Amino acid sequence: MTKVTDLPFVQSFIEVCEEGYRKGWHERNGGNLSYRMTAEEVASVQAELNEEQSWQPIGTEVPKLGGEYFLVTGSGKYMRNVKKDPENNICIAKLDEPGENFKVVWGLKSGGRPTSEFPTHLMNHEIKKELTQGKFRVIYHAHPANVIALTFVLPLEDKAFTHEIWEMATENPVIIPRGIGVVPWMVPGGREIAVATSKLMHQYDVAIWAHHGVFCSGADFDETFALMETLEKGAEICVKVHSMEGKRQTIPEQGFIDLARDFKIDLNQDFLNL
Ligand code: 13P
Ligand code: ZN
Repeated sequence: MTKVTDLPFVQSFIEVCEEGYRKGWHERNGGNLSYRMTAEEVASVQAELNEEQSWQPIGTEVPKLGGEYFLVTGSGKYMRNVKKDPENNICIAKLDEPGENFKVVWGLKSGGRPTSEFPTHLMNHEIKKELTQGKFRVIYHAHPANVIALTFVLPLEDKAFTHEIWEMATENPVIIPRGIGVVPWMVPGGREIAVATSKLMHQYDVAIWAHHGVFCSGADFDETFALMETLEKGAEICVKVHSMEGKRQTIPEQGFIDLARDFKIDLNQDFLNL
């Protein structure tokens, strides 16, 4: 029988943890990752699942995710350790039918629970599942240094952040056409920040948490990781430009319109200075 950890979706999950760590986005236990499993994937691991653990409250309610299974990193676990010991650092969590409680059915062998940001992950999953007719399955939270640095100097506004990142590389508006949402500083780990983030996920696939990190969402692991990578590279260029006394020239506003036309992207016009 194939081991859970050998399955392709588990391997891809582990790869993101590893790559993100190598990028420097996951100091200590920083950051977390979750994946909404398909019915086929659940069936393929069913024999390995242990239903004995008791239900625990999620801390919010996600009725549209009732009965679903998630592969998710453990709270306090280090991304650096996921590849060498997946069964002790990640888990499969099953939700009850009302979407109010979860139980760990695989993994976290020496104990533990899913990430403290599970409420935000699940509320984002619920919104994305509905908006994309089930296509989006990945939610990723990381602590990339340049994005965090920018939250100390740019206004904490969706338009200001989006426009700045769009300017930093011609491909950025193509990759992040709807834009980037910004959550002001809040205490992490609870329902309040989950509600604030999921509101932004109605409009965007990327939300920045001021002075903390980033949440990204996508259909698969490659797409979601690429979003984080693109945003962080844009932020790195921005930090370099600011360190060199700021912009002396940039992409003209008409340039964004021409780009949207030629690349056939639905660029968020509200974030242009027309
Ligand atoms: P967890 O270890 O609970 O996943 O928390 C890490 C983190 O980044 C909190 O925002
Ligand atoms: Zn965090």
